[in-house]
Amino acid sequence: MNKDTKDAIKEWEVKAALIGGRGFTGAYQTIFIDDECTIEGGRHKNVRNNILNNLRFVKDKTVIDFGCNVGGVCIDAKNAGATSVVGVDISQSAIGLAKELVGIVDLDIDYKVIDLDATDEEVFRETVSRDNFDVALLLSIWRHIDIEKFASWVGNVVDSIIVFEGHASMANERNICEDILRRNLTGFSIRYLGEAGNYAKVTTGRPIFICEK
Ligand SMILES: C[S@@+](CC[C@H](N)C(=O)[O-])C[C@H]1O[C@@H](n2cnc3c(N)ncnc32)[C@H](O)[C@@H]1O
Repeated sequence: MNKDTKDAIKEWEVKAALIGGRGFTGAYQTIFIDDECTIEGGRHKNVRNNILNNLRFVKDKTVIDFGCNVGGVCIDAKNAGATSVVGVDISQSAIGLAKELVGIVDLDIDYKVIDLDATDEEVFRETVSRDNFDVALLLSIWRHIDIEKFASWVGNVVDSIIVFEGHASMANERNICEDILRRNLTGFSIRYLGEAGNYAKVTTGRPIFICEK
């Protein structure tokens, strides 16, 4: 990575920190760009990435990341060999930064601003200009959105795998999430994979499920 790219990433990091998140300074997501460059965010992804086998299942697949924030997981998916990646989020600033970062590091990822609460299957397909994706990532978004409404249609736009991560706020988070998935994702088998970390070094909370069609 040349010096201009490194400088541009440093400038990007300062801007990402401004929209960061609750309870920490810096960007929300930790972003692994390549072996040389990691942007340390408040939310560490090592535990999640281990549980998800570093997203190996996205190789040669099309991927949609719902609530992608500044695109850290979209970059992981691209690096894991996804054929195409789309990230959507309600935050104009997060999507603006996500686009800026892939411009700096020259990665082909498509980002769109979408309010999932105001979107149905049809509007979603029109916005992303495609019918279905092989893999969908729903990571730490369910307490931000109307999950029952979203879960009622998301399975229709996914051909193969939905990865779902809950939050760390309730003791019975795993059961609550599993109930939502089982009631809404007809035709999917639902498997609990383990608990991802919350922030920084906290390694409890955030149940992860893989749902396969
Ligand atoms: C806790 S963050 C999780 C980010 C990312 N998925 C991850 O796990 O690293 C929740 C994200 O959901 C987005 N979000 C909240 N409400 C949304 C909505 N109605 N539609 C789309 N995205 C939304 C936020 O802007 C934020 O980026």
